[in-house]
Amino acid sequence: MTTLPFTRPTIGEDELQAIREVLETGWITTGPKSLALEQALADYIGGDVQVRVFNSATSALEASLLAAGIGPGDEVIVPAISFVATANVVLRAGARPVFVEVDLHSRNLDAAAVAAAWTPATRAVIPVHFAGLAVDMEPLYALAEKHQLLLLEDAAQAIGTEYQGRKIGASGNPVSFSFHPNKNMTTIEGGAVASTDADFMKRLERLRFHGIERDADGNIDVTVWGGKMNLPDVNAAVGMVQLMRLDRFNQRRRELAQRYFQLLPVNETLVLPADDAGHSWHMFCVCIDHVALGKTRAEIMSHFSEHGITVGTHYPAMHLFSLYRQFGYSEGDFPVAEKIGAQTLTLPLFPAMTEADVDHVCATVTAIVSGQI
Ligand SMILES: Cc1ncc(COP(=O)(O)O)c(C=O)c1O
Repeated sequence: MTTLPFTRPTIGEDELQAIREVLETGWITTGPKSLALEQALADYIGGDVQVRVFNSATSALEASLLAAGIGPGDEVIVPAISFVATANVVLRAGARPVFVEVDLHSRNLDAAAVAAAWTPATRAVIPVHFAGLAVDMEPLYALAEKHQLLLLEDAAQAIGTEYQGRKIGASGNPVSFSFHPNKNMTTIEGGAVASTDADFMKRLERLRFHGIERDADGNIDVTVWGGKMNLPDVNAAVGMVQLMRLDRFNQRRRELAQRYFQLLPVNETLVLPADDAGHSWHMFCVCIDHVALGKTRAEIMSHFSEHGITVGTHYPAMHLFSLYRQFGYSEGDFPVAEKIGAQTLTLPLFPAMTEADVDHVCATVTAIVSGQI
């Protein structure tokens, strides 16, 4: 029996050829391909944004916080459910992450939760467009204006997602993307920031590469600390091909997600994700109430595995990690996030999946939640 993974990147001859071409030029680190990818991403996103590519979204988020001057004494509001990088970058900047509750179906934070967590020390909010579903940004824009907050969108999972008819990334405030292999397009590892603020982008460039600035004559000066967060051209070349294929990938993801909705059973132990026209379906995450079924989550995962299916667990609630308990967080703080953290299962979803694959996963879910296995 071949096992169905929960995700798999779609890599073809064009990506292999693009890598080969860069390797043969003799200039294989950051150079013309990275610049070309920045322009291609800016054109794709629209909204007159500029883009800077990074070696990961983690670097992109970290540099964005530093470029915005976030640091010690500042609080940054983040959803309790995300990949842990979203909170870790706040600590790295020297600031304090403040977690807020998320919605059970969208897994996104909302403006009411942010308003309730706001204090005079709050400087920024990092809304995460979970699994490719856009956060409702409009009320957050109003809140950000009222309190002079930075909105740094974590769109690691949302390249190609649309909100109010525009691509995520086109809002003007900094928006960070990931091109990790699991994401809807990949550069193997990689990330990017989109923004319309030219000064902010200049600061990002310095933070990305050793603080180095060049004048028109090519003279170098270093005025601030900078790291080593640049994206090599080999990776950028893969990204150029993937970006051309992205809309087709996302279309296929949407088709497969709709098939899941058609075939998954209605059952009180099963929570389905929220849907939306602009969703890019990075992941299809459900909750299965294993306690009500008299099982552990590990047992449920074994049932999938026995049927040739690998499922993921995206993500544990971040406030319950040992690192963040040190800030005083504990069980009961965010019941919805904790339910998600305990019960979540990521069903397989990637462009090369077939309809028959989805049918098999749905039949297995049905058997599990109806107590047949
Ligand atoms: C929501 C979110 N933020 C940040 C990251 C970090 O991305 P990267 O692996 O490119 O650093 C990820 C990666 O999974 C993510 O899902």
